[in-house]
Amino acid sequence: MWKSAEALAVAIVMAGALAVAALPSHAELAPAAQKGEAGKKAQAKAEKGKAQQAVNAAAPAAAATAVKVAALGRPALAEEIAAWDIDVRPDGQGLPEGKGSVKEGEEVFLEQCAACHGEFGEGAGRWPVLAGGAGTLKSERPEKTIGSFWPDASTAYDYIHRAMPFGNGQSLTADQTYAIVAYLLNLNDVVKDDFVLSKENFAKVKLPNQPNFFDDDRETTEKAFWNANPCMKNCTGEVKVISRARILDVTPDGEQKGNLE
Ligand code: HEC
Repeated sequence: MWKSAEALAVAIVMAGALAVAALPSHAELAPAAQKGEAGKKAQAKAEKGKAQQAVNAAAPAAAATAVKVAALGRPALAEEIAAWDIDVRPDGQGLPEGKGSVKEGEEVFLEQCAACHGEFGEGAGRWPVLAGGAGTLKSERPEKTIGSFWPDASTAYDYIHRAMPFGNGQSLTADQTYAIVAYLLNLNDVVKDDFVLSKENFAKVKLPNQPNFFDDDRETTEKAFWNANPCMKNCTGEVKVISRARILDVTPDGEQKGNLE
């Protein structure tokens, strides 16, 4: 029995430290699950996790010496890892076997997507627009679609398979997803009417706005502004107010109620 509140508090803190240090790493837990590609990926992730754990555990050094691994959970099955491991990357990594044509995609789209996104991806009512908008990115009301804005077709495959149709995500087969993506690429004038999208030709598809995405370059472009002792007061000269929102007419007035667009 604990004699004082202070002792109890110490015990809780120690238990906390032990819990951090004692979490078994994924690699230790799942030797059976490490066959094949999914297993290798899981192992790579686990290695990273392990390194982080070492960092986390290093702080309460005294506690770490007394570590006993808690026997929590059970090894993840290869099937369980595979069920989570559904991401598709821009270079096509993660794509399943399969293919689908623009024509097949049109059929599935009309059945499962058009009610919300419109027959041609134009968006029904206020549901998201999936096609068109080319050249609008610099306009006052840019229309950001797969064709006008998205950098990679893999996002369409990944997202549609993962999350659509809305409320029934992951119900589409690989072939259906390839077909729908082909149809959406066609609606966005990226591929022709007779195009068949497959695992093999996926990485060759290039979306028009891809070149406008680039890696964060602030480390070089903004380096001049970086300073260990940043200015915290009187950093600029006199501030001049050059206009007011009311004069620019950006603030809707009360009379426009319900008609703000
Ligand atoms: C019940 C209405 C509904 C149906 C049916 C539906 N969607 Fe969606 N879709 C949505 C909503 C809502 C969003 C936005 C979700 C969000 O932002 O979280 C969305 C987003 C999307 C997006 C991303 C749009 C963007 O620019 O961010 C794509 C692509 C998409 N849906 C494709 C599909 C496809 C393909 C189907 C058919 C297999 C489908 N959707 C069926 C409602 C629907």
